[in-house]
Order: sequence, then structure tokens, then C-alpha cells
Amino acid sequence: MKIPSINPERFLEDFNALAQIGATGDGGVNRPAFSEAHLAARKWFGERAAEAGLEVQVDGAGNHSAILRQPGASKSLLLGSHLDSVPNGGHFDGALGVVSALEVLRTIEETGLELPVNLEAIDFTDEESSLIQFMGSYALLGLLTPAILRSPHGGRAALLEGLSHAGLTEDGLLSSRRNPDTIAGYLELHIEQGPKLESAGMQIGIVTGIVGISSFRISFYGRADHSGTTPMEARADAGLGASSFVIASREIVMNQFPDCVANVGNMEFRPGVFNVVPKQVDVSLEIRSMDCERLNALKSALMDQAQHDAEQFDLDLEVLTLGGSEPASMSSRAQTAIRSSAEALGLRHMSISSGAGHDAQLLSRITSTGMIFVPSIGGVSHSPVEFTEWEDCVNGAKVLLGAALHLVEQE
Ligand code: HGY
Ligand code: MN
Ligand code: MN
Repeated sequence: MKIPSINPERFLEDFNALAQIGATGDGGVNRPAFSEAHLAARKWFGERAAEAGLEVQVDGAGNHSAILRQPGASKSLLLGSHLDSVPNGGHFDGALGVVSALEVLRTIEETGLELPVNLEAIDFTDEESSLIQFMGSYALLGLLTPAILRSPHGGRAALLEGLSHAGLTEDGLLSSRRNPDTIAGYLELHIEQGPKLESAGMQIGIVTGIVGISSFRISFYGRADHSGTTPMEARADAGLGASSFVIASREIVMNQFPDCVANVGNMEFRPGVFNVVPKQVDVSLEIRSMDCERLNALKSALMDQAQHDAEQFDLDLEVLTLGGSEPASMSSRAQTAIRSSAEALGLRHMSISSGAGHDAQLLSRITSTGMIFVPSIGGVSHSPVEFTEWEDCVNGAKVLLGAALHLVEQE
């Protein structure tokens, strides 16, 4: 099949228009799930899709889709990513995947190609997991449960507020499962968010696997006391246990689990004022590994450490597991499609694993799934400084188009 070519000018125009929605003025965007900016970005996506004559659909989890329907097709090949961002993040993470998917659908529609499957550009809800870990893709798999909704990643109050702001319901989240038999595969173009492609001088990364992630809220409980009159040695200071844990957790990973990573992204002191010894400190911990067993081993090592720190400072401890996602392998079929597309375009490419989490790790449980990476300058991401050369973005979109048609040919 002759591969049509995308319209780079239109692609760039869309990408730049989207980057203005929630722009923070320093090159980044601030589009947390269900924020005004996020909802505006989704509205923009729906309008662009409708202007192109594509069918627009929103499911009970708020996943937004643009569909290029094919006569008689019972399955859809999904291409996509996410329009939400981390707070004050970059304008490539997720956005590149959604805009390139839209460009691929429009390109194919213009050629009038008849395909055996529908093509669907999808924007998954809350990929950045600010409310629920991978909310949209978990919902599409039918894996969200009332228990997850009761103690979600970002707290229940924030979840309920976000849902009502977006006009969604818990019932909608729990009833958004998509029949896997109707999905022909999933492909996602994404920035690497790391330094490997740039340092290897490669243009395309063929993702082999995606890291597993586990998240916890570790609460250290001491005693509130007057900060001026309580003798230092008489304090049950929750801050000491939490701080000791943060330092120790880094040592444990660096010395015993060099193949893993851990991050404490937030510590909340209560009551959190100058003149009260902290009664409680909540530590938000995330750990990642490409291997399930290593993830579990690291989890128990860190929980033992937290217990040790609590005892050392005469504190109580509570650990809440807030969800996670298992490591996932990308399908060889999808990797082959991406590789042959990159080769046909004469692009330098390499296999690469992903230290970042993606909706693709959920989709890989139910369908042939692949990811295409393009280089991140300096490996920087989740920052306004995040940047990828536009030529690389265009290359990625061309590989996405070629890989999609390669997969479709096999249907
Ligand atoms: O956290 C991640 O790895 C992804 O950016 N959501
Ligand atoms: Mn992303
Ligand atoms: Mn991200």
C-alpha cells in the first residue's frame, strides 16, 4: 500500500494552537485533569475533529475520541495519548500523541483509502494520574472499582470535584469498559522524556516495555506540642520520621535497587505552622521498576525502613497503597510495524524501554500495543523546558501513519 504523507503545516498549526491552551508563558502548560484548561483542550480537540468530518465520541470516563468510520468495520485501531498535563508541565507530553493521531486520521480520510477497521484518535482521561492512576485507560479496560474510587490517588474530594466539573459520574467511570474484541490495536507516539535517543543519535525509539509503578501515602504520627516550650528531647516530631525516611529511601534504591527509582513528590505537615511540633506528616511515595518482583522487593524494603524510622522517633505509622500499574511489554507485532515504518522512511531507530508510565501499559493487556518515541532535548520532561525538535515530531507522526497502515493491512 502506498503510504500517504501527512500535512506538516496543518500538524504544526494544530500543535501550536493546542500549546496555547493552558500555556504558562514559559513554554509549558498547566492542564491537570478536569481543570478549565484541560476541558478547553478537549473541546478544541472535538471541534478540530468535527471540522475534519470525523465522528466525535466521549465515553463515561471522559475519554474523547475522533473516529474515521469504515463501512462494515467491527473493530477500531486506536491511536492516541492524553491532553492532560502535570502541573506546570511541558507542551509535548501527551499532546504530541493526540495531535499526531488526529493528523493521521485526516490524512487517511483525504486519501479516501478504504480500510478493514475504523481508525480512532483517542485522548485518555487523567493519564497523569492526578486523580486516579491512568483513570481513562483503566476505565476502558473495566478495571476501576468502587474501592479505587473511595481512595483514589489524588484524594476523594478532588475526584468528586473534578468529575462534577467535567460533567462525569462515578457510575460512568465504572461502566466504561470497551469490549476488547472491538479493538484492533493501540499505537501511541510520545516524547521519550529521557536522554537515551538523543545521546544515541537516534530519531525513533521502538518501545519494548513500560515500567511498573506503585504509589503509597505513608503517614507518620507524632504529637502536636508547643514549639517554644517543649524540650527538644521530649518531642514526638512526625517531621523527623518522614525526613529520615526520605533520605534513607534514596540510599536503599541507590545501593540495593539500582535498576529501580523512587520519588517522594510531596510531604504534607499537619497542622503545618511554625509554632506547633508536627503531629502528622503524609509522605507521597512512588516507586518504579521494569520487573514486578523487584518492585515488590523494593516496596517491602521501603516499608521496613518506614517502620524503623517511626520507631526511632517514637511515632506511629500508617501506609496506604494508592494504586499502581504493572510493567508491560509492547507487542512484537506492533514493534515490527513501527520498525518497518521507520526503515521505510530511512530513519535511525533503536529499541528502548520506557521509564515513564503510559496508557499503553494498560491497553497492552487487551490488544496489540506499541509506542513510538521521539527524542527529548536533554532528556527533560514534566517541566516547561521539555522540548523536541519539530522535525522529530513530524518523523514520529509519519512513523505512526506507516505503522498504523502496516497493522491494518494484517486485519
Ligand atoms: O508518570 C509518568 O510516568 C507519566 O508521565 N504519567
Ligand atoms: Mn505522557
Ligand atoms: Mn507525563
